[in-house]
Amino acid sequence: MRWFRLCAALLAAFTLASAQSPTGKWIAKYSSDDEAREIVLALNVDSGGAVTGYVLAPQYEDRIVEGKASGGQVIFVAERDANNNTKRRSNYSAVLEGDKLKLTMPPSGNRPPQVIEFTRTSAEAPAPLPPAPPKIALAAPAAVRDNGLARTPPMGWNSWNKFAGRVNDKVVREIADAMARNGMKAAGYVYVNIDDTWESARDSQGNIGANSKFPDMKALADYVHGKGLKLGIYSSPGPKTCAGYEASYQHEAQDAKTYAAWGIDYLKYDWCSASRVYAPDAATMQAAYAKMGEALLASGRHMVYSLCQYGMLDVGEWGAKVSGNLWRTTGDISDRWQSMSHIGFDLQPGREKYAAPGHWNDPDMLEIGNGGMTDIEYRTHMSLWCLLAAPLLAGNDLRDVKPSILEILTNKEAIAVDQDKLGKQGVRVAKNGDLEVWARPLADGGHAVGLFNRGDAAAKVTAKWSDVGVQGAHKVRDLWAHADRGKAKDEYTAEVPSHGVVMIKIAK
Ligand code: GLA
Repeated sequence: MRWFRLCAALLAAFTLASAQSPTGKWIAKYSSDDEAREIVLALNVDSGGAVTGYVLAPQYEDRIVEGKASGGQVIFVAERDANNNTKRRSNYSAVLEGDKLKLTMPPSGNRPPQVIEFTRTSAEAPAPLPPAPPKIALAAPAAVRDNGLARTPPMGWNSWNKFAGRVNDKVVREIADAMARNGMKAAGYVYVNIDDTWESARDSQGNIGANSKFPDMKALADYVHGKGLKLGIYSSPGPKTCAGYEASYQHEAQDAKTYAAWGIDYLKYDWCSASRVYAPDAATMQAAYAKMGEALLASGRHMVYSLCQYGMLDVGEWGAKVSGNLWRTTGDISDRWQSMSHIGFDLQPGREKYAAPGHWNDPDMLEIGNGGMTDIEYRTHMSLWCLLAAPLLAGNDLRDVKPSILEILTNKEAIAVDQDKLGKQGVRVAKNGDLEVWARPLADGGHAVGLFNRGDAAAKVTAKWSDVGVQGAHKVRDLWAHADRGKAKDEYTAEVPSHGVVMIKIAK
């Protein structure tokens, strides 16, 4: 609570008197389409300046646990039920400006703090928020049948990293056009996945529809299929998605049928607001995911099933048993070296035992080409994901892509490692400070090896055959230089730039 004490002291020292009180109900509407979503803010300031109330959004409720108002300024700390049976606290601050209130929302995922303008709907002290209903606990379900898909890690594109709420029918068609034309499809990228913000409210029969950004989902699927590609979509087991849109809670079978009727080939199913309705234990989460796994199978259409619950509650232990083909292992990636390298190098070890044909650990979608890293860093991103047998879902604007980025995404020799039929996820076999060696056995008896340098200066990195698990002299090929490097005995050493990689294949 240091943040709170410091801000409260500043507030007492510097705020000017304001005739108005922030007490009352406030509303902010936001939208990237025709679907209005709103956030309600309820504030009650007592005579000593203490603040109670809440922030209510479609996908969360934040209850104020401590707050202070002085003049036209308010600060508060609010708490919500988070995943893993924990509470999450967030810091808010607000300034009253006439009949508007500007609220600085806490950062969320990769989104920095955002200022949202609220309009007053009442000046009366709001009633307290009723306690949340008890959470639903479910028994661990029987295993759901394997859907037989994704024998190698899925490859394609996803809208979220670049477009977030700005994705629409036109963007998806143009991305499909670009993939068919620019070598992405030829390199193996087939899924064109629409992430969050496509949904509209349900109709009177409870059918989910798409909002005005997607006027005809079936026609869009036909278009994408016409390009020899496949279409993916997104939902949540909770009532709302992470961006606050309609999700599949209590409509699982109905939604799976709708997706099948549209011609959808892939579903990303994101936990989000499910934590508001379901008990935070592995059996319940498994049961919630099994429901959709069953529903997809029952729909009669082949759809890759992508679990997104940020790696909680030992998902590797049960992801395959809910018919899942891949499951996220961490929170959201962002287009920064720190985020990508932490997720890729630090958070994957230990999960390799769960990867096998049909069932993959997902360290999140690619940021290659989004501009926040250098080409050297993006090459490291690609190499590490290929060694990890990770799904390769490009996350950049493929309509307008630099040749050097396209070259990284379509490196056939790196992709062959990712798509290797043995399906063995690579592991770190040696670490010396910032220098790491990762290796992965391949179906032809060879090994793919990454010599990584996470440090700030170029360095020589040595891969020892004994660490990789091979002996004697072997032919070495550099998978980025696309060049044979002759035979190497017992080890291979290369000069690796800062944040860079040399990726090789050691022949059998
Ligand atoms: C979560 C997921 C992201 C993305 C957004 C969409 O944060 O982890 O990958 O799907 O939701 O709202």
